[in-house]
Amino acid sequence: MTSAEFKKLIAEGIPSELPAFKFYDRNINHAPKRKEILNRAEKKLAIKNALRYFPEKFHLVLAKEFADELATYGRIYMYRFRPDYEIKARHIDDFPYRSRAAAAIMLMISNNLDINVAQHPHELITYGGNGAVFQNWAQYRLTMKYLSEMTDEQTLVIYSGHPLGLFPSPKDAPRVVVTNGMVIPNYSSQDHWEKFNALGVSQYGQMTAGSYMYIGPQGIVHGTTITLLNASRMISKSGDAQKSKLFLSSGLGGMSGAQPKAAGIAGIISVIAEINPKAIKTRHSQGWVDEVFSDLDSLVERVKEVTAAKKVTSVAYEGNIVDVWEKFADENIFVDLGSDQTSLHNPWSGGYYPAGLSFEESNSMMSEYPEKFKDEVRKSLRRQVVAINRHTSKGTYFFDYGNAFLLEASRAGGDVLKKDGEFKYPSYVQDIMGPMCFDYGFGPFRWVCCSNKPADLEVTDKIAIETLVALIKKSPDQIKQQMTDNIHWIKEAAKNRLVVGSQARILYADAEGRMEIASAFNDAISKGKISAPVVIGRDHHDVSGTDSPYRETSNIYDGSKFTADMAVQNVIGDSFRGATWVSLHNGGGVGWGEVINGGFGMMLDGTPETDSRLRMMLHWDVNNGIARRSWARNKEAMFTLKREMERTPGLKVTIPYIADDKLIEDALR
Ligand SMILES: NC(=O)c1ccc[n+]([C@@H]2O[C@H](COP(=O)([O-])OP(=O)(O)OC[C@H]3O[C@@H](n4cnc5c(N)ncnc54)[C@H](O)[C@@H]3O)[C@@H](O)[C@H]2O)c1
Repeated sequence: MTSAEFKKLIAEGIPSELPAFKFYDRNINHAPKRKEILNRAEKKLAIKNALRYFPEKFHLVLAKEFADELATYGRIYMYRFRPDYEIKARHIDDFPYRSRAAAAIMLMISNNLDINVAQHPHELITYGGNGAVFQNWAQYRLTMKYLSEMTDEQTLVIYSGHPLGLFPSPKDAPRVVVTNGMVIPNYSSQDHWEKFNALGVSQYGQMTAGSYMYIGPQGIVHGTTITLLNASRMISKSGDAQKSKLFLSSGLGGMSGAQPKAAGIAGIISVIAEINPKAIKTRHSQGWVDEVFSDLDSLVERVKEVTAAKKVTSVAYEGNIVDVWEKFADENIFVDLGSDQTSLHNPWSGGYYPAGLSFEESNSMMSEYPEKFKDEVRKSLRRQVVAINRHTSKGTYFFDYGNAFLLEASRAGGDVLKKDGEFKYPSYVQDIMGPMCFDYGFGPFRWVCCSNKPADLEVTDKIAIETLVALIKKSPDQIKQQMTDNIHWIKEAAKNRLVVGSQARILYADAEGRMEIASAFNDAISKGKISAPVVIGRDHHDVSGTDSPYRETSNIYDGSKFTADMAVQNVIGDSFRGATWVSLHNGGGVGWGEVINGGFGMMLDGTPETDSRLRMMLHWDVNNGIARRSWARNKEAMFTLKREMERTPGLKVTIPYIADDKLIEDALR
């Protein structure tokens, strides 16, 4: 297909003639059938809603087809309208546009739906089982059309994948504003999502799926490496005893699949159970996991060998994680670090496979007998907790990996609560990421080269290294470890060959690091050292972007962890400080109703105006959260904020006075 033909197809939007029917491609990884949730009247409404994207002349054919899709898959994806061209990141100028910023957004959307990047590309799901970019193919087509024709004085408004339209706006305004899954708080249960999504009026955007900021597995490998490295350091009694540690967890899916690779980079032996043979095959063929076992006795034998030899190896077990926890307890295998990364943010429709049932048995039970399936999930979680408790009583450090494991286990009646109602085990943010990274402002800064050329990525890597090496010289001791880890990461990044899809890179940086790196990129673009614009952004697993009481904000202890002011303020603040697009989501990571998170994207085009915008916006994007974390009395954040106020004129933030606990006890007596 020529470039002109591709541009024409993008600009076409909904085609004027019905495209050919598309057969279900069994070679592609598809979303599981969603549970049947709509009554007859609601099904009518869902079909009527779907038909409003199309002229009446199509309705006779499409009404029947959409009814079939709803009955077969539980959703109307409008498969027929999936384009025939390859959807992938291309050079920014290969997209048709009047606004270059809009073309950058098209590139990012295309990457999220790339067949080599997305988890269920035909269902427009990027990761996490239900992390949608759009609800259906009509929304994709219309959005791309709008982006191709919009100017720098319009903003495209997207409601949960639905492009509401273009509205006049100032040049400095975001070109796209996205909301995903925003509902009235009382209507935010898991079943509400199922219903609204089946009706075609809302979607679960996860974090970087519905905000167009996914960069393939690289982001998660980096985050998991940082987590495991710091967890391992934390439990090390004698300096660097890392190499002999054993990590047990589950999941080789979208994000969880990073565990064996990251453990290897961090020098840790890992055993990861995965029930889906396809997921194991993918990770094994990528070389992310070294060995695969489907028999528990052989697994035990191998684990004993590698732990005795202190040989850093990653092992996948094809089967249920519950069986491994139990077997290792029976066999007295000491697990140093334990976690779980099944998709428990989505427990009833394929996120968690209960013990005692095969993969296929679970898949049919969850749609045919959903109540029975729920019971099986709960039973399995209780069993898993009993086994984990046997390990932790012997000294295993178990942490929740932000997948709602402890939350769902407690709801299932599992023994994970202390007497005061708090969880027995910390989340990885409480002990590790919160105090060591987020409270100092370190988070998942990322960038994408819009030329789509590896040579540009190489230049950006060099610039990032030079910038961080210069910054570490004047960094306080408190953040030197994070700086060192990230300099090491970025030096090795190309070697780890983690680029899948767009030419992207991630590293953890604080406000100053992000601003200086972005500014240096902008300068290099203006001088032609980088051949095209660069998009900067982050995932939402960060300092300020996300209010999530069992994950990003689980180390907030002033009672405010169930509020979402920070995440909402963040998006509002980013939008008027220069972001190219912003997004605000309900759900993401831990589940619908359990988190509010926001993100941004900014196109760097080498102009001086962009330099002041990036400084203004990145400063807020990190320091909003630092200020909130400081107000919550987190000492690392108080330190960071005071340092920031010293160097930033105009920043004046309320600092908490710390009351003496004894004094309060006495007052209450
Ligand atoms: N990696 C991180 O840093 C991170 C951070 C925050 C949250 N999470 C959470 O981790 C979870 C996993 O994310 P994902 O993208 O990998 O999801 P995913 O659905 O792609 O992968 C989960 C995998 O777990 C497997 N599985 C489910 N139940 C199992 C069982 N009982 N035994 C063995 N395997 C089982 C599934 O087959 C699936 O492949 C999500 O809830 C996500 O929000 C991850």
